[in-house]
Amino acid sequence: MKLLLLSDIHANLEAMEAVFSKTKNYSFDKIVSLGDQIDYGANPNEVIALLKEKKAHCILGNHEYILMYPEQLNWFNSSAQKCSLWTKENLSKENMQWIEKLPGKFIDKENKILGVHGTPFNPIFEYIDAGIARLALKEMNYRIFLTGHSHLPGYIFEEEKQFTCIKKKEITYDEKKILITVPSCGQPRDEDPRTGYCVLDTDEKFIKFERISYDIEKAAKKIREAGLPEIEAERLFSGF
Ligand SMILES: [Fe+2]
Repeated sequence: MKLLLLSDIHANLEAMEAVFSKTKNYSFDKIVSLGDQIDYGANPNEVIALLKEKKAHCILGNHEYILMYPEQLNWFNSSAQKCSLWTKENLSKENMQWIEKLPGKFIDKENKILGVHGTPFNPIFEYIDAGIARLALKEMNYRIFLTGHSHLPGYIFEEEKQFTCIKKKEITYDEKKILITVPSCGQPRDEDPRTGYCVLDTDEKFIKFERISYDIEKAAKKIREAGLPEIEAERLFSGF
């Protein structure tokens, strides 16, 4: 099975379109989006429309969760709070209903894959670290763990002590269990502004981490024109 893995698209249509354009000649059995499809960017409706069109398997991120439960808005810093309120105002009713139906996990039983936004133990809010990853790899009955949320791509094999942080690389995993943090598609924070995604092939047993350029100028212009916080436009250029 061949999967395209996306995470943290954050309403960045230009970044997501660049990924689909780059991978258009591949045929994927599944497209998975590991949460935070919305907020920060100016195109939540268009991003959700494209994910629906691609029949992507999308899950809940903390940004979708807080959109549904705004009484928890104070978990966010002030810029993220403004973005959440903007999304709420601009999201179509139909797309709000789509968010309300998102599952908290992606599970592929046949290939023993678990995908979550945060961590296998706290799928929505918790940030993964090496200790939590080691525990999940040891105690949970999956072979491949997929996470997002940190916006920092990397991986850790069973019985390894630390994450390996990476940008572009292909790794093979053979029989070893592995946990992957999928790069952010729409708001990279590893000082590399290029959009990121992964390709997972469970037959050939490899995972490819990819980074490609996209039209940052256009995405940032839309953020500014929408009246969203300036910082959310600026950070796209430096990837922080
Ligand atoms: Fe995120």
